[in-house]
Amino acid sequence: MSAEETTELRQRQANFSKELHGDHVGERTGMSALISKDKTAQQEAVAKYLRLWDGKTDKDAEQKRLEDYNESTHSYYNVVTDFYEYGWGSSFHFCRFYKGENFQAAMARHEHYLAHMADIKEGDLVLDVGCGVGGPAREIARFTNCNIIGLNNNDYQIEKAKWYAKNAGLQDHLQFVKGDFMNLEFEPNTFDKVYAIEATCHAPSLEKCYEQIYKVLKPGGTFAVYEWVMTDKYDENNEEHRKVCYEIELGDGIPKMFTVDVARDALKNCGFEVVVDKDLADNNDQVPWYYPLTGEWKYVQTLSDIGTFFRTSYFGRKFTNLMVSTMEKVGLAPQGSVKVTAALEEAAVGLVAGGRTKLFTPMMLFVARKPLDTTEN
Ligand SMILES: C[S@@+](CC[C@H](N)C(=O)[O-])C[C@H]1O[C@@H](n2cnc3c(N)ncnc32)[C@H](O)[C@@H]1O
Repeated sequence: MSAEETTELRQRQANFSKELHGDHVGERTGMSALISKDKTAQQEAVAKYLRLWDGKTDKDAEQKRLEDYNESTHSYYNVVTDFYEYGWGSSFHFCRFYKGENFQAAMARHEHYLAHMADIKEGDLVLDVGCGVGGPAREIARFTNCNIIGLNNNDYQIEKAKWYAKNAGLQDHLQFVKGDFMNLEFEPNTFDKVYAIEATCHAPSLEKCYEQIYKVLKPGGTFAVYEWVMTDKYDENNEEHRKVCYEIELGDGIPKMFTVDVARDALKNCGFEVVVDKDLADNNDQVPWYYPLTGEWKYVQTLSDIGTFFRTSYFGRKFTNLMVSTMEKVGLAPQGSVKVTAALEEAAVGLVAGGRTKLFTPMMLFVARKPLDTTEN
């Protein structure tokens, strides 16, 4: 894409975001934010997200989704961000759970662990690739006292992230900028550390995305990532496997889920030295990472988790679908909201099936180092 095309696309996306979400984006979250949308723009955003997820899984359909990654991901997060915040909170990722551990504590621990593995230190300049509404960045800045630039393709999330950072008094440590992780515009060798949490799975090519990260990382710097991948057990020619994978792609706005080998090779091909390569979901944990989506009350850890668990569980999701469908019928929620909750439902089914069968992991941890001497690469 030429520089002019990029500028034009950004301007169009920024204008559309303003039209859809309005001003003062931080002040409303979840259902209250949903009902404040511009109804026509919301319909357009839902159509843009779903137009290429039409049930087809052939190479041609896949190619179209790969080519459209930027617009369709932008549209996906335009329509799901309020639901994510309503159901999950302001960190949009999964995590491991210890028995008895509260949901928010487990989420924070997952973020601290990545910061630790990336060796983030006080004063480091860190890039958060695909930063959502900045939940992990706020936590990691507090944990380490580093400075983070959160990069995101979605204008609505950037505005929210800025609002939350200011509200938390962290504006001196955090910046949020619009950008595409397939074309990072920072100077080479800028960042001490880079991390990405469940974001680069939206890339049409992991290798091209990691190449960009390699470029902006200082020599000797570390890149740590929780990657979404299909595991070694996945067989693309197995219909059941492909179904699970497609449900995840559709409901999470991912053009193509790659396998763990593809991710590992991509890092190495860019010149990274892979120092940690571990599937954190493959630990026989007593409480599985996907428990909030299961509806199995036996896993609920503390009283404070009941609200989150209810909203994300099977029955809670049915309740939300019914509520959203009623709100849509009476004109409170914009048309298309039900289609979004239906897609999120497919995602939840695919994620639980993928988790139970270990065909899929949302926490493939890679810690990769850019060599100090990069003259050979
Ligand atoms: C599942 S969310 C994870 C957000 C965040 N890491 C967290 O854990 O809260 C994926 C994020 O990747 C961002 N993203 C997707 N494609 C992108 C792209 N091409 N460039 C930059 N960000 C992108 C999305 O806008 C979204 O914020």
